[in-house]
Amino acid sequence: MCGIIGYVGKKPASEILIDGLKTLEYRGYDSSGLYISGEKRIRSVGGVNNLYKKLPKGMKGTCGIAHTRWATHGKPSEKNSHPHTGTSGYIFVVHNGIIENYIDLKNNLKKQGSKFSSETDSEVIAHLIEKQIDEGSTFEESVVNTLKVIKGAYGIAVMNKREPEKIIAAQKGSPIVLGIGDNEYFIASDVSAIVKHTKTVLYINDGECLVITPTSHNIFTIDLKTCKRKPEKISWNTERVKKGGYKHFMLKEIMEAPEVLKNSVRGRLLPETGNAKLGGLETITDKLTTIKRIIIVGCGSAYYAGLVGKLYFEEIAGIPTEVEIASEYRYRTIPLNKETMILAISQSGETADTLSCINEAKAKGCSTIGVVNVVGSSIARAVDAGVYNHAGPEIGVASTKAFISQLEVLLLIALYIGRKKNVSSSEGKNIINEINKLPKKIELVLAQAKKIELIAKKYSDSKDFLYIGRKYSYPIAFEGALKLKEVSYIHAEGYGAGEMKHGPIAMIDKQFPSIAIIPNDTVYEKTFSNIEEIRARDGKVIAITTKGDKKIPTIANEVIEVPKTIELIYPILTTVVLQLFAYYVGVHRGLNVDRPRNLAKSVTVE
Ligand code: F6R
Repeated sequence: MCGIIGYVGKKPASEILIDGLKTLEYRGYDSSGLYISGEKRIRSVGGVNNLYKKLPKGMKGTCGIAHTRWATHGKPSEKNSHPHTGTSGYIFVVHNGIIENYIDLKNNLKKQGSKFSSETDSEVIAHLIEKQIDEGSTFEESVVNTLKVIKGAYGIAVMNKREPEKIIAAQKGSPIVLGIGDNEYFIASDVSAIVKHTKTVLYINDGECLVITPTSHNIFTIDLKTCKRKPEKISWNTERVKKGGYKHFMLKEIMEAPEVLKNSVRGRLLPETGNAKLGGLETITDKLTTIKRIIIVGCGSAYYAGLVGKLYFEEIAGIPTEVEIASEYRYRTIPLNKETMILAISQSGETADTLSCINEAKAKGCSTIGVVNVVGSSIARAVDAGVYNHAGPEIGVASTKAFISQLEVLLLIALYIGRKKNVSSSEGKNIINEINKLPKKIELVLAQAKKIELIAKKYSDSKDFLYIGRKYSYPIAFEGALKLKEVSYIHAEGYGAGEMKHGPIAMIDKQFPSIAIIPNDTVYEKTFSNIEEIRARDGKVIAITTKGDKKIPTIANEVIEVPKTIELIYPILTTVVLQLFAYYVGVHRGLNVDRPRNLAKSVTVE
């Protein structure tokens, strides 16, 4: 949450910083600000465009830092926007994360005469650094000593008016990446913000600091030990983070589904043997075939992907599996042993709660694996082994393409383990055959976008929605409801279809539509009865079912069909229908579906 960008080199920094902030807006967009050497600090409430409008023409400074905010402490306002300064105003700090002991630090600093001007936790960093410089420490020493007293998570970038061509950055729990150009350096919370300038990058590790000037970069630990690491080349291009003619990133990313589903399994399918080839898991294959229990951790959509993964692991790999919301897991006392494996699912690879589950599990001697989309992200680097999604950058705040690729990758992992245990070659071949047909089938779902849009429009004034499903469609009911909540702000609840009569059916009336996910699977008849129960109470039903189904149209008010496939794969097809539905409801309500209010793409605070 919150995005940081910094530049030092020969070019005017303002354009680079604004451009980078626009890319980082997905991390937070309630206010923004920047400081450029030789200029005044400028801050603004609202999106980055508001900041841009406030910039004076012809800013020439060639070193600067900027920040786009997702408020944690204090409302979105100009005074709470970053960069923050100390009392004398010569230190500028941008911060991503949360300083947990800021109240004590602030009270202490106040007693010593510091004057605070914001309600943020971040401002203490500027005061602490400034105070030490005032007392005779160097800029570097002051930053390092400050890092020793603050508790919590941070990615920071700091400038000092008195050393105008230098930026000091540091990270603990909130990533900072260094981009290396030709006599110029960039820092950012995410490579997407700098990829158009350089493809040579260096990821900073937790507990490390970085100093950049136009001609040098130096990484060291907070104990001032130099760290030598080779830069990496990244293979991104800027096109991948543009809208490509679509009105919204969300629609573009939903429409990318066929390509995403190909990319997530490219080179990973062995159709002749009915097996999966997962290079990222080879080092722990023996372990995977002997473990007795898997605990999947994730948040939001990633958690719902985990609920589908649980069914895959139990059915295909024969391993008892639990799924935990990461923010709950980390505070519970869960008996763990060496035969338990923790699997983290995360699109961004930066979700603070999920990352801390991994660190906790490692400390207890468990093996850890990750299903992560962003290459080189904190979770990807923390786990023992893992499988990247290769879904490409996901910019829309609500997860769409990453979610379906998480399901596909989880299916492959289950197959990979299952084939080493009880799954026969012919069962494996059947799964792989269906995975190979998936992109074409998804195209048939996407081709119904117009029809889904009309249904969405018809129901877009509803105040509530219920989403129901069983077995593989049960987690998809949650995911569908979450998507609608996020982009339309309509209240929606996911429920196990069989649970309806244990309470929620009391809410059903003419005004309360339900979305029933009822493909032709092993629980079809049971879900059908639940639809009858809703219709008997005058509730409207939008049903998502398998193409050619004759019974559903006799009972549901609206029917959307997905092509026939195997039970394991229906959740991927039905999810895409629900993503389109949520998208169009949001659009018809006139909302910014790419950047829903109060949300951010990367949740790096606990
Ligand atoms: C929902 C959504 C969130 C994320 C959650 C986890 O559309 O995007 O619920 O799924 O914040 O994020 P990652 O996967 O980055 O760990």
